[in-house]
Amino acid sequence: MKLPWGQNQYDMLTPRIPYLKKLPTVLWYDRNMYAVCVKYNSQKSLKKAAQILGYYFKRESRYDFAPYEIEYHDNNLQLVLFLKERYRHSYYVMGCLEFDYGQRYSDIPEGWMLSWAWLHPYIRGNGYMTALYPHLLERYKDFYFEFPLSKAMFHVARKCGSDSQKKLLEKC
Ligand SMILES: CC(C)(COP(=O)(O)OP(=O)(O)OC[C@H]1O[C@@H](n2cnc3c(N)ncnc32)[C@H](O)[C@@H]1OP(=O)(O)O)[C@@H](O)C(=O)NCCC(=O)NCCS
Repeated sequence: MKLPWGQNQYDMLTPRIPYLKKLPTVLWYDRNMYAVCVKYNSQKSLKKAAQILGYYFKRESRYDFAPYEIEYHDNNLQLVLFLKERYRHSYYVMGCLEFDYGQRYSDIPEGWMLSWAWLHPYIRGNGYMTALYPHLLERYKDFYFEFPLSKAMFHVARKCGSDSQKKLLEKC
């Protein structure tokens, strides 16, 4: 998918999608910010926005490839999107996390894994990830991480993680 604006590393527009009468499963909300779970059969507008945030994640982390492409979204992949509602008119898509189900490595059991996470710089450091974390544990159990973790993600996971996640992080 081509970005609808320049390809400069620093170009960034917050994706905005039309108002949805029915949101996908809401994991957490606070005032007009919602964290919703996007599955393979969820609205395409949400997936398109996630793909754009994936490009931003790639640029910022200097990864070689975009972490999420709509056409590979199957039943073993779920996204958690942060949506900021704008007057029952539209939503800004402010952040995205991707969870994959399976057994990525032979030495870890089958289960969910957090593959990547990216929050818009304007909303970072406001405790959104910290607030969401217990709901992630409830839904994705003792999810594993795609390493390496950034310093901020490592900090959040060590602060909010399950016992087994904390043990895992001690080894890092
Ligand atoms: C990682 C990320 C998803 C966390 O979301 P967030 O909403 O900013 O997280 P919170 O505000 O709940 O908490 C951030 C915590 O990290 C800490 N932190 C931030 N930068 C840090 C750093 N460089 N080193 C150590 N801790 C750091 C903050 O102090 C805060 O901890 P505190 O609440 O105990 O003070 C977000 O910062 C982000 O998108 N970063 C860029 C992409 C990224 O790193 N993705 C993860 C890839 S593994």
